[in-house]
Amino acid sequence: MCGIVGYTGTREAYPIIIKGLKRLEYRGYDSTGVALLNGKLNVYKKKGKVADLEEAVLGKNLHAHTGIGHTRWATHGEPSDRNAHPHQSAGGKIAMIHNGIIENYLQLKQDLSNKGYTFQSDTDTEVLLNFIEEIKKNNQCNLEEAVRIALKRVTGAYVILLLDEDDPGTIIAARKGSPLVIGIGKGEHFLGSDASPMLEYTKEVVYVNDYELAIVKPDELILKNLGNERVTPYIQKLDIELAAIEKGGYEHFMLKEIHEQPQTIYDCLRGRLDAMEGTITMSGIQQYAEQIVNANRIVMIACGTSWHAGLVAEYIFEELCRINVEVEYASEFRYRNPVVHKGDVIIAISQSGETADTLVAIEKAKEKGAIILGVVNVVGSSIARTSHGGAYTHAGPEIGVASTKAFTAQLAVLTMIALKIGYIKGTIEEERYRYLLKELQEIPEKVAWTLNHSDNIKALAEKYKDAHDFLYLGRGYNFPVALEGALKLKEISYIHAEGYPAAEMKHGPIALVDDKLPVVFVATKDAYHEKVVSNMQEIKARKGKVIAVITEGDESTKAICDDVMLVPEADEILAPMLSVVPLQLLAYYIGIARGCDVDKPRNLAKSVTVE
Ligand code: G6P
Repeated sequence: MCGIVGYTGTREAYPIIIKGLKRLEYRGYDSTGVALLNGKLNVYKKKGKVADLEEAVLGKNLHAHTGIGHTRWATHGEPSDRNAHPHQSAGGKIAMIHNGIIENYLQLKQDLSNKGYTFQSDTDTEVLLNFIEEIKKNNQCNLEEAVRIALKRVTGAYVILLLDEDDPGTIIAARKGSPLVIGIGKGEHFLGSDASPMLEYTKEVVYVNDYELAIVKPDELILKNLGNERVTPYIQKLDIELAAIEKGGYEHFMLKEIHEQPQTIYDCLRGRLDAMEGTITMSGIQQYAEQIVNANRIVMIACGTSWHAGLVAEYIFEELCRINVEVEYASEFRYRNPVVHKGDVIIAISQSGETADTLVAIEKAKEKGAIILGVVNVVGSSIARTSHGGAYTHAGPEIGVASTKAFTAQLAVLTMIALKIGYIKGTIEEERYRYLLKELQEIPEKVAWTLNHSDNIKALAEKYKDAHDFLYLGRGYNFPVALEGALKLKEISYIHAEGYPAAEMKHGPIALVDDKLPVVFVATKDAYHEKVVSNMQEIKARKGKVIAVITEGDESTKAICDDVMLVPEADEILAPMLSVVPLQLLAYYIGIARGCDVDKPRNLAKSVTVE
């Protein structure tokens, strides 16, 4: 949550920062601001999105070669101009932006108030900034030293970037818990919450680690730990192309990303799955294969859509590997006292690789001796780096705030892991193993088929867009898909939607059914199909509207439904990668029909780096 950008070099900083902020808006869009240092600090900030700030600064002095910018997801203090970042210190000479939460800010605020400080905002950020200024004044030190001293006293998570009128051209940055990437150019440096703001300028980046402080000048990057010792920057090459973060002719990132799925699933399988040879090559899993095979249990830890991928994987692992699987919300797992034994296998699932709860949960489990495997999309992210092993999902940058292509890529990776482990363990018969490999290889084509047969979904969206509530039902492998369908609709259209196991519907939700309630069934042909059809009849008998995702050619189910969305036939283990696609489209088109900002739904952020 919150996106940060910085630039210092020879170019005009403002356009680079604004473009970078637009790419980071997925991290929050409650307010936007920039601080430009050209002898004096010029700070401009505004409630709303980057475009609102652009309008507000028309005609202002924007000239500077050093600057920082912020796009906010509000934690402390409502979204407003006043609470927007950058904040300026009481003395006016230092500007700071922050992504994260300073947990002990109230205590610090009290101390500073006692010393006569007053605050312009309700934020924890302004408190930390004035705390830093106070240290700088009292210790007669430079900003770098003041930041180092201050950070030893704060608890919480942060990435901070600071500018100081006393040290033009320098950006001081530090991180703990929130991401920070520094791009290295010729005589210039770029800073960002991820690499997207710097893609067209450099391919060389440094991922700053927790408890590191960076002193960034146009022609010098110094990294230090909080003990003031130098750390050698580890320079990595980026392999993301600019086109991957642009809309490519689609109206919205969400639609683009839904349509990318045949390619992204293919990319995820490519080089790993060889159906002819009967092999799955995943070196980050192979290394830990013995421990996984012998594990008494596997714990999947995730949030949001990634948690739903974990639920599907639970069914798959239990079926193919006969290993007990538990799926945990990271936020719950980290705050209980979970039983974790040395050698337990934890699979952390995360698109961003930065979700704070997931990250802390795996750090705790790691301390207790668990083996941590990451199923992560963003290369070089914190969760990827904290994990012992794992596999990237290779879905490419996902910009739409509601996750789509990352989900299907997670399913593809988790299925491959389960197949690999089940095969080694001998819990899958050779014939079934070979069959599933072949079927999995065909999934990209089947997703393409699904997309090509989705023309009716826009009209369905028009028909049901005014409903106040939706129920999503499914059984077995399709139960988590029902949860994901409901989540997508909530996120994108703000319609209340609930996902339930189809049979469990009788224990409560059925009371909601009347002639206005659309009930979406995920009812592809599988072992439970007849049971699901019975549940449909129960809804029909109460005059509910039945919309269903069904298998192509299933005429008898189609006859019961008010409306259908089609997917091709597939093994039930693989069906979720198909059945979720029409639900993503349904949410998208309902969101559009209701005039919602589908790429940036209200109150949400893509990368939740606060607890
Ligand atoms: C946020 C996003 C969701 C995502 C969840 C977990 O809520 O809006 O789309 O599923 O975080 O994020 P992660 O990056 O860990 O998968």
